[in-house]
Amino acid sequence: GTAPDLAGRHVVVSAGGTREPLDPVRFLGNRSSGKQGYALARTAAARGARVTLVSANTGLPDPAGVDVVRAGTAVQLREAVLKAAADADAVVMAAAVADFRPAAYATGKIKKKDGQDPDPIVLVRNPDILAEVSADRARPGQVIVGFAAETDDVLANGRAKLARKGCDLLVVNEVGERKTFGSEENEAVVLGSDGTETPVPYGPKEALADTVWDLVVGRLA
Ligand code: PMT
Repeated sequence: GTAPDLAGRHVVVSAGGTREPLDPVRFLGNRSSGKQGYALARTAAARGARVTLVSANTGLPDPAGVDVVRAGTAVQLREAVLKAAADADAVVMAAAVADFRPAAYATGKIKKKDGQDPDPIVLVRNPDILAEVSADRARPGQVIVGFAAETDDVLANGRAKLARKGCDLLVVNEVGERKTFGSEENEAVVLGSDGTETPVPYGPKEALADTVWDLVVGRLA
């Protein structure tokens, strides 16, 4: 809808995929293009919200009328989201955040050594931003929305993830090498912490975004 039902509200949206550097040349990353998060930012702005878009490694143009903050790694994304969330009415975490990062960063390019096997890549956990913003709400009544990118047992994993993360709404979508990542369309079920399930049929990422904002508006009221 284009009703200004988010007028006077500040919403924070994260989009894209974090990159966790190994050396100046390589990183561990994922297939997120940022399109779903940017659709959320555009539709929120169209509905009258002040929007802060925390964007991780997307090649997309800045949406008109949206404050864009860039973040490369999960640690940087956390800083940017927590800062913007301090006075936000809603936070929507559409970014694909790496659960782990390399334990060590090599300041020079890692070289192959003749006749030697490569060193294993040791990983450490990244902070869980969604769990943190859900546990420490910056203001009472703040609505927190997560996404769940699943490949198997999509709904069962989604329900478990909603409980674990402690958010109000979880948008469960199926992903694969050519599914959802980078495409213009998506299909999802939005799970509510109150047990509700809102299916969203296959269609433009804007349509899913508008359904998310409808559910957020209902919870802000
Ligand atoms: O960008 P597109 O190409 O349009 O693709 C869209 C999308 C598939 C990336 C998007 O719809 C999506 O599902 N985003 C969430 C991807 C993800 O990281 O899912 P997850 O199931 O690994 O994480 C669950 C939730 O926790 C997410 O809201 C994520 O932002 C958050 N998270 C995860 C790990 C972490 N360390 N901190 C987090 O906050």
